[in-house]
Amino acid sequence: MGFSTKAVHAGIEPDPTTGSIMTPVHLTSTYVQEELGVNKGYEYARVSNPTRTVLEKSIAELEGGKEGLAFGSGMAAITTLFMALKAGDHIIVSRDVYGGTYRLGKLVLNNFNLDFEFVDTTDLDILKKTIKSSTKMVFIETPTNPTMEITDLAGAAKICKAKKVISVVDNTFASPYLQRPLEYGIDIVMHSATKYLNGHSDMLGGLLVLNDAKMIEKLRFLQKSIGGIMSPFEAWMCIRGIKTLAVRMDRACNNAMEVASFLSRHRKVKKVNYPGLLSHPQHRLAQKQMSEFGGMISFDLGSLESAKKFLKRVKLCALAESLGGVETLISHPATMTHASVPADERNRIGVTDGLVRISVGIEDVKDIIADIKQALA
Ligand SMILES: Cc1ncc(COP(=O)(O)O)c(C=O)c1O
Repeated sequence: MGFSTKAVHAGIEPDPTTGSIMTPVHLTSTYVQEELGVNKGYEYARVSNPTRTVLEKSIAELEGGKEGLAFGSGMAAITTLFMALKAGDHIIVSRDVYGGTYRLGKLVLNNFNLDFEFVDTTDLDILKKTIKSSTKMVFIETPTNPTMEITDLAGAAKICKAKKVISVVDNTFASPYLQRPLEYGIDIVMHSATKYLNGHSDMLGGLLVLNDAKMIEKLRFLQKSIGGIMSPFEAWMCIRGIKTLAVRMDRACNNAMEVASFLSRHRKVKKVNYPGLLSHPQHRLAQKQMSEFGGMISFDLGSLESAKKFLKRVKLCALAESLGGVETLISHPATMTHASVPADERNRIGVTDGLVRISVGIEDVKDIIADIKQALA
């Protein structure tokens, strides 16, 4: 079955009581039991909910995994995942990771003696050398937010398997339509469902997908124990969004390619980070492991002053955090998504004061480019 067919149908059955083709939103906190120990598979909504189950089945099928787990946000999913570790464990994370993931590791979970180290996972030799006896997890983002660095999925998975370390990929930027890390041997896929999966900037959610039965059991236990679950209504919004993932993503990728080409020719733009450009240092790798190059671009205007001016002048492109919606969003990572990362660290990884990030939407590309052109002028 092709991806677009799966996106529309995976996990979804007409409602058995009414035939409703749309999954009902099961707004209930509990379920009546027939007698002690006899129920219809649901006991309490923190543990499971039929609407959430449909989304969990859908994402598992789209990523090619056994089971999916849905959370209240991407950060709730990542937190639950890290809670599977123990004090003293060492976790390797891609250096140019989403600022919230950096903040969680460096400013929150380090207080519980989880030892986070941020390294350049695009260099597999560095990754291999950084793994030590206490390393229990490698958390990779690819493409990264916001400099669009690409890590070799098959290479990283092989290293982690050999060292018996759990490999995780934050697949938010690519979505399962463009990249399916489990197919390359990665153990766990994570998503901020808030972005491309929902696709309409109207909910928050997080997802995990994996195959290993023991780890599934552990994460299910943590999900109900910690309670950072996705609400039934948000699960429904995400189910609805996923049905159009393929068509939205195709359009966003085509638009992004044109916007990136335009930016790379503009004299005021110092650098463009987009894996679809031949100038991207890992263009070939991206071509190998992604079916298209995504809707995210970042580009450097050289200074905070220039970035500020540009962001004040865009009209169609909305100045806002987040990404992956149908509308083009534009942001300034250094002061917005990555404000928790210290300035020297930001500069080291290329998140400069002049860097602007665009989540290219599905509008007519000539309108997006016209807006960027007038703002740059
Ligand atoms: C790559 C990536 N991972 C994780 C997150 C966190 O997701 P959420 O905002 O749904 O908690 C984000 C949010 O922007 C993100 O961009």
